[in-house]
This record gives sequence, structure tokens and C-alpha cells, in this order.
Amino acid sequence: MANLDHLIAASQADFSACEDMPALENAKAKYLGKTGLLTEALKGLGKLSAEERPAAGAAINVVKQAIEAALNARREAILNAVQAKQLAQESIDVTLPARAQSQGGLHPVTLTLQRIETLFHSIGFEVATGPEIETDFYNFTALNIPENHPARAMHDTFYVDDANVLRTHTSPVQIHYMENKEPPLKIIAPGRVYRVDSDATHSPMFHQVEGLWVDENVSFANLKGVVQDFLQKFFERDDLTVRFRPSFFPFTEPSAEMDMSWNGGWLEIGGCGMVHPEVFKHVNIDSEKYRGFAFGLGVERLAMLRYGVNDLRHFFNNDLRFLQQFNK
Ligand code: PHE
Repeated sequence: MANLDHLIAASQADFSACEDMPALENAKAKYLGKTGLLTEALKGLGKLSAEERPAAGAAINVVKQAIEAALNARREAILNAVQAKQLAQESIDVTLPARAQSQGGLHPVTLTLQRIETLFHSIGFEVATGPEIETDFYNFTALNIPENHPARAMHDTFYVDDANVLRTHTSPVQIHYMENKEPPLKIIAPGRVYRVDSDATHSPMFHQVEGLWVDENVSFANLKGVVQDFLQKFFERDDLTVRFRPSFFPFTEPSAEMDMSWNGGWLEIGGCGMVHPEVFKHVNIDSEKYRGFAFGLGVERLAMLRYGVNDLRHFFNNDLRFLQQFNK
């Protein structure tokens, strides 16, 4: 049986030569596998006499344990090396300089909306909001635009389905608000609106700010005063004036389009008028007792003039070179 001892040294040499686990598994099979050298020796026990067998068996066992010990030692060494290599690869150099964070900023349309809200708030207007997906009733019917009325064609409407639209203006917020509140009412309603339209001065999504003031003695003169005062403060120009051109909206009577003086000429900035009695009827406000004015201003138009932007699409292209100029 003495010839088995050399297997210990041989296996140690083989195991030491293994650099990874698959190689070690192969080397293990050479000694301890089903047809391995040690297994063959065990089979040989059957040829020995009954007296020789216990001593021989014990000797083989000693060799087997020595080989297993060598195998385990090598396995541990390989696993340690693998782990050490992984740790080295994943180590983080905490002395490297940090990645810089760039400071974000508010979008120019947001800045404009904030300015509008602040100025109207200072003269007692509350901010109201409404849904951007509206029923046909709120966007049209309650605003005195019945089905098949030609005024519907003025709005290039995105239909969500037969009964719902993306609101084409902020005027439906007037209806939601008046349904739930008693006069006196004094609100602005800023928000997104949608129309099927797209070029240098039209975007399929844009912003309006609606104004509504309902009380017993509200007049067209108040409308003019509020709008002109607001624009003078917004543009920081005391000499700015507002001009009204007769126009038509189904939900106001009389109606007008508003222009403001700008660089020696006039620029259209929105529509307005006195709330139509039919609208008051839809929301159960007594039009004998109350009167009101309403207006709708284009927010991007105000932003373009204030910041000197010449193409509406700059606001929606998300080009950082444009947006970062407002980052103050
Ligand atoms: N809703 C109108 C539009 O979008 C503007 C408007 C608002 C006109 C309020 C009159 C009164 O064109």
C-alpha cells in the first residue's frame, strides 16, 4: 500500500497548478472521481485477503483525507483570490474630484405665470384651476356655444372621444368656478390649452390666463382698468395703453379683442367682454343682479414680448442653450 503515499504529493502539485474553480474540479476528478486514482485503489481492496483488508483500508483513508485537505486548502485560496480581485476592481477612489451638479432653473413660461399670478394676487384675484380634459358641455355648451353652432369651428379642437375634448381655452374654468361659488367672484385661471395648430406663432399646446370678476356693479371700465394696470406692471411701462376692438365671443356681450401699445404700434394680446346672461343662466347666477367681465390672455405672447423671444417654438424645443438664459 506504500505506493499510495505518492498520490498525496502528486495531488498537491496538481491542485497548486490550478488557477480557477473549473480547473480544480478537473484535478479533483483525477483523484477522487468515479474513475480516479484513489477510487481505483479502493476497488483493489477486494483482491486482498480478509486479514490484510482493514489495515489497507485505513491507509487509503489516510491518503484520501490528505488529498481532500489539499483540495479544500486550494479551493479556499482560489476563492480568496477571486474575491480579492473583485474587491480591487470595484474599489472606489474617494479622493477623485466629485461630479459637478448644474443648477436648474424655472422655465420662462413658468416664470411668466408666476409673475402674472403675483400681480393679480396683489389686486385681490384668487387663482382657480380646472381639468385639461373637458366635457363638451364645459368647453362649449355652458359657454353658450351650442352643438352645431358655427362658433365651434373657430376652435380647432382635439377630440378625446365623442364627449370629451382637450380644452381649447381656459374659459371652462369660469363655469366650474361659478357653479360652486356665490358672487362676488374675482379669479384668474392660468393653464394649458390645446388647439390643432402649429407654426412659428402657434403651438398645439399653449397657455392662457383667464380673468373673471363678477359683482353687482362690475363694468367694462373696470375691465379696461384691470387689464391696462396689469400690463403696465407686467412690462414695467407706465405709458403702456390698451385698445379694445369690437369682436365676437358667444360667452361675452359685448365682446372685444384687446391690443396693447408696443413700439409705436398695436399688438393683439387676447379677448374679453362682459359675461353673457346665457352663461350666468347655466350656473344659476342672477344676471339681473350681477354683472361680470371676463378676459383671456395668451401667456406665451406675454413671455415672448417680455423676454424678446421671436419664435414660439423655442419655448417647447427644450434646448438647454435657450432655457439656461432664464436660469437666474
Ligand atoms: N376664451 C377666448 C379664447 O380663447 C378668450 C376670451 C376669454 C374671450 C374670456 C372673452 C372672454 O379665444
